[in-house]
Amino acid sequence: MLRATGLVKSYRAPGGEPIPVLRGVDLVVKGGELVAVVGQSGSGKSTLLCVLGLLEDADAGEIVYENVCVSALPRSAKSRARGRWVGFVFQSFLLLPSLTALENVLLAARYTGRDRAEARRRGLALLDELGVVGRKDHYPQELSGGEQQRVAFCRAVLNDPPLLLADEPTGNLDDANGAVIFDALRSRARAGAAVVVVSHRPEAATGATAVYRLRGGVLEA
Ligand SMILES: Nc1ncnc2c1ncn2[C@@H]1O[C@H](COP(=O)(O)OP(=O)(O)O)[C@@H](O)[C@H]1O
Ligand SMILES: [Mg+2]
Repeated sequence: MLRATGLVKSYRAPGGEPIPVLRGVDLVVKGGELVAVVGQSGSGKSTLLCVLGLLEDADAGEIVYENVCVSALPRSAKSRARGRWVGFVFQSFLLLPSLTALENVLLAARYTGRDRAEARRRGLALLDELGVVGRKDHYPQELSGGEQQRVAFCRAVLNDPPLLLADEPTGNLDDANGAVIFDALRSRARAGAAVVVVSHRPEAATGATAVYRLRGGVLEA
């Protein structure tokens, strides 16, 4: 599903020298696999995920989804590729405060041309699976952190993305809520998605089909 080859990325501080973050990252993730990337804070995990998900361009290297070299696409086509293939779960849940839980989830279907009633049924089924369907009409500020992350997870997977990218998905959660999110990620992989989780927490590797460490800008087995 995902093949990344030779990813290189630096950031340039204003007026300063470029700071290398990724120095040649290779990664292959097949459908059905859950890959965990662990590494210290500042090691480039979020950068890697943004590059893999086409939110940021690498300086060099190639990203292929299925058989499409998406890193070579023009910007607008990259956005479409992201919409078609990728679901993101962020550490900060990024729910819109003026929308209810269910409305936040259904946002993901807005630009897909999907049947609204069908999307709503799927959204409710997901909220039920994650144990928050009773909160569907609540606004984000009325939800606990764990509930917000569950809702954000439902939004990320509403369109059944074949590639699911999760950045510290349990970073703001207690152990019980973190376990719910990890179970849900594993269940997506069992359903055939390629899942990449990055975290500074070693527990992120539990149940992963492969674990890598990001150190010095490269992935180590
Ligand atoms: N937009 C940016 N501009 C400049 N430097 C950045 C930017 N984003 C990240 N960095 C730097 O890149 C390095 C890796 O950051 P990040 O990918 O967020 O690491 P991690 O997620 O592993 O904590 C850090 O040194 C960080 O300061
Ligand atoms: Mg990070």
